[in-house]
Amino acid sequence: MKRKTYQGLTFRPFIEHEAIRARVARLGELISSDYAGEYPLLVCVLNGAAPFAVDLFRALDIDAEITFIRLKSYEGMGSTGVVKQIMGLTDDIAGRHVIIVEDIIDTGNTMTRLKADIQAMNPASVRIATLLFKPEALQVPIDPDYIGFEIPKKFIIGYGLDIDGMARNLNDIYVLDDENAPAE
Ligand code: IMP
Ligand code: MG
Repeated sequence: MKRKTYQGLTFRPFIEHEAIRARVARLGELISSDYAGEYPLLVCVLNGAAPFAVDLFRALDIDAEITFIRLKSYEGMGSTGVVKQIMGLTDDIAGRHVIIVEDIIDTGNTMTRLKADIQAMNPASVRIATLLFKPEALQVPIDPDYIGFEIPKKFIIGYGLDIDGMARNLNDIYVLDDENAPAE
C-alpha cells in the first residue's frame, strides 16, 4: 500500500481493509449475541460513520434497524469542541434499544452531547459502537461499549474518515505522517 497525499500532507497506511473487515465481523457477532431476541436500532452518525455503520449492520445476524443523523463538530484537523448542527433524528426511539454508531471518538465531546440528547428521548437502552477510539485524546469520560480499534492520538483518514471532505472512499485507514503533523 502506498502513501497518500491530501492538501500537501502525507498519510501512511495504518489499518488494512482486511483487518477492518475482520474486526467489523467480530463486532457484528458480539452485538448479535448481546441483543439476541431484541430488535436494536443502529443510529449512524453521518458522514464519517457511514461505511462502518452499514458494514456493521450487514454483519448482524439478528433483526435490526438502521437510521442516520448528522452532526458537525470538527473542521479541518482540529476539534472545535462544539456540536454545530443536528439533522434527524425523526424516528420515535422511545422504548428502543439504541446503538449509536460513530467513526471515531476523539475528545469525546460529540458523543457526550449526542448520548445525552438520545437518552432524553427515553430509549430502553443506549450503547455506543465506535470504529476508532483515541483514549489519550479524551476530554470527557466516555466508555464505548463496542470498539473497533484503540489508536494513538493521531489524525486518521479513510473508511469514512475525512480531511475536509476528502479520503472517505479509501477502503484502508491511513495516519498522518509524524513529520508533517501540526504542532499541538
Ligand atoms: P470528538 O467530539 O472530538 O470526539 O470528535 C468526534 C468527531 O471528530 C468524529 O466523529 C470525527 O468526525 C471527527 N474526528 C476526530 N478525530 C478525527 C481524525 O483523526 N480524523 C478525521 N476525523 C476525526
Ligand atoms: Mg463523525
